[in-house]
Amino acid sequence: MIEVQNVTKRFGIFTAIERVTFTVDKGEVLAFLGPNGAGKTTTMRILTCFIPATEGIARVAGFDCFQQPMEVKRRIGYLPETLPLYQELTVTEYLTFVGRIKGLSAPELRTSLDRVVERLALGDVRDRLIANLSRGYQQRVGLAQALLHDPPVLILDEPTVGLDPKQIIEIRELIKSLAGSHTVILSTHILPEATASCQRVVIINNGRIVAVDSPERLSARLRQSEKISVTVKAPPSDLADRFRALPGVMTVFESSEPGSFLLECKLGRDLRDDVARFVVGNGWGLLELKTVSMTLEDVFLRLTQHEEGVEDAGGAPGAGQDVQTTEHPRA
Ligand SMILES: Nc1ncnc2c1ncn2[C@@H]1O[C@H](COP(=O)(O)OP(=O)(O)O)[C@@H](O)[C@H]1O
Ligand SMILES: [Mg+2]
Repeated sequence: MIEVQNVTKRFGIFTAIERVTFTVDKGEVLAFLGPNGAGKTTTMRILTCFIPATEGIARVAGFDCFQQPMEVKRRIGYLPETLPLYQELTVTEYLTFVGRIKGLSAPELRTSLDRVVERLALGDVRDRLIANLSRGYQQRVGLAQALLHDPPVLILDEPTVGLDPKQIIEIRELIKSLAGSHTVILSTHILPEATASCQRVVIINNGRIVAVDSPERLSARLRQSEKISVTVKAPPSDLADRFRALPGVMTVFESSEPGSFLLECKLGRDLRDDVARFVVGNGWGLLELKTVSMTLEDVFLRLTQHEEGVEDAGGAPGAGQDVQTTEHPRA
């Protein structure tokens, strides 16, 4: 449904994306995952015909984004990173305005409007001014405008940024409900976001694709160990050594925070229970215990190392580890 072949985009001498290649099948939900500045928005703007590629080919439903933009736009609903919502319009007025731009006839517009208002649960606010809506509702209005002409393809640029956890879950559920009937690309810089609602993940960093995989396989490829962060109230001076002696613990890092340790354990073993009993049983006082998930920086580090053929030597303390140890949140 979507084909991107060796697409490069240069802004002057700066290369924003380089030879980006991937495809999205009909009905698939694909995550475009990468840190800020990776080139996600640039790729999406090319696919939605807002900017032309410098080199390469982008096609949607068989139509070339550069040569047949009208055909492409007809089939795409786009939620940009920052959507210009007209604050002084009501929800109905705004969606009517968007529908006219999209070339819907009056009867088409009425049915489409009712459909998206129902789908995004906007019924209670349809006559309210957009300016007076919460961020969550404004984002739903943004999604409503993307879905208005019932396009088979949706391009959503960071759709959950700035939303609270409840709103994030609502948007994720909505995206999941689109799978199968719609082809979706959503961009995100948050790893769990990509794994929560997508069937496939394309990871982009510095304008280049570093991995394409299913969320499960990606996690399996990346997870070579389980990490536990533990904070102890009154640690004995040799606690790091004592942790190291626990069965299943491979490496122990001491944090600069007094009493905080990062334990790297054998893959597939959740030692939280053992660690908790060990600390409490010895009367040292357990202040905090949790598993630590891999940061996006770790992911890129592993993937780029992998790509260059530098194998991670089974839990060696690399730069990723330093990222982890500084991560201990202090209230
Ligand atoms: N119009 C532009 N002119 C110059 N540089 C740009 C322009 N748009 C994006 N860039 C640069 O291209 C890179 C990729 O940006 P972008 O695609 O917005 O990344 P992302 O969406 O992944 O955060 C960034 O370094 C950004 O500064
Ligand atoms: Mg962006």
